[in-house]
Amino acid sequence: MERTAIGSLRQFIGQRVKIQGWLQTLRDQKKIQFLIIRDRTGTAQVAFWKANDPELAEVISGLGTESALTIMGTVIDNPVVKLGGLELQLEELEINSAAQSPMPFEPFGDTLPAIDFRMDWRYLDLRRADNLFLFTVQTTVEHAMREYWLQNNFMEIHSPKIVSSPSESGAELFEMIYFDRKAYLAQSPQFYKQMAMAAGFERVFEIGPVFRADPSFTSRHMTEFTGIDMEMSWVDSHEDVMAFTERWLQYVYQQVQEKHGEEIQQRLGVQLVVPGVPFPRITMEEAYAVLKQIGYTLPPEKKGDLDPGGERAMGDYVRQKYNSDLFFLTNWPIAVRPFYHMRLDDRPDLTRSFDLIAGGLEIATGAQREHRYDVLVKQAVEKGLRQEPIQFYLDFFRYGCPSHGGFGLGLSRLMMVLLGINNIRETVFIFRGPTRLQP
Ligand code: 4AD
Ligand code: MG
Repeated sequence: MERTAIGSLRQFIGQRVKIQGWLQTLRDQKKIQFLIIRDRTGTAQVAFWKANDPELAEVISGLGTESALTIMGTVIDNPVVKLGGLELQLEELEINSAAQSPMPFEPFGDTLPAIDFRMDWRYLDLRRADNLFLFTVQTTVEHAMREYWLQNNFMEIHSPKIVSSPSESGAELFEMIYFDRKAYLAQSPQFYKQMAMAAGFERVFEIGPVFRADPSFTSRHMTEFTGIDMEMSWVDSHEDVMAFTERWLQYVYQQVQEKHGEEIQQRLGVQLVVPGVPFPRITMEEAYAVLKQIGYTLPPEKKGDLDPGGERAMGDYVRQKYNSDLFFLTNWPIAVRPFYHMRLDDRPDLTRSFDLIAGGLEIATGAQREHRYDVLVKQAVEKGLRQEPIQFYLDFFRYGCPSHGGFGLGLSRLMMVLLGINNIRETVFIFRGPTRLQP
């Protein structure tokens, strides 16, 4: 017999069906047993009269919640039942996998333990409908990203994650043993998406793992995350990259709004607003002036940079002034940008770069890259980099490379913003942090 999805039981009133799912609740009454069964599509009430088969009733009484079950029965219309006004009358039961009890925690209990404990038992935590929903939305997000890229002649690439030199900075780098020498886990596909430009691919994107040996315990950092990267050729400035980025992201928001807007509102109380384009652009010099004006002081070690408080303060300012949750912070000083960012012609102390801030959180960093070999070498040396380990990268620019630019965006950061979730640990399938390597 074929399996029927619980969400579609209404179409089978009066018929015998097979459902498969988890025992969310068991109400064991004197004469009758009620089993709430859940699969990905919903929950339904299953009823069993004990007198029909006392032996089977005994088996049901012994079931632990969250056992995985196959149930055969007849679907009955029953308006008093809260779950969809129908009920399945149990005829046969097969226990696919009994759940031990007690469980480490009740995923469907009234109170949930703290996130750290739930992460120990992430697969149980993920059984909650809100979590399932998050990954349904994330699937839409990634699909929409790819769709927009394909409509705009981008190609998908996969770059190596075992690399011989850092691309972003010497810090935050995971070292590994690679036979008889040292290698590193890639901090971004940066060098290789630029190589694709030198190879004549013109427009590429990559969705893949990114590793950062960041020892901090914040609500926005992970040591491994999914990076969303793109790079495009023949740009005139970082403005071309921003103009593409905002339309691409607007499309993603549109798709999420269309498919899940209502459910996001219902489940999470978040009103998703599709952003208008262009997003406001604010130079870093303007940002410092604004922060000064509102009396926000950056910590001294963050000179030229922004800290999370500064990002939030600027987020509030832009929301008030431009009624926008998203904006670009542009023209960052070279001191806080990597060597490969191109500089402004008239201000060589500033880069042709941007951060995309959403809901007061940095979700992407992008730039036009320096594609002129001599200038690039000079900038690397100025940053104190040794040329030899990155010569293979510098070589990409020796035999004809178009001007180009792109961005890197953190998938989980975007999910936080879209769904109004404060802690990145709640948005990722499996969290990796300084003290977490399991599950
Ligand atoms: O800002 P980042 O470090 O920029 C780059 O990697 C450049 N190669 C991008 C470029 O094309 N110029 O990282 C890009 C994005 C950040 O904006 C943030 O959303 C996310 O990746 N990110 C993290 N997400 C979670 N945990 C971390 N530790 C992250 N570090 C960066
Ligand atoms: Mg950044």
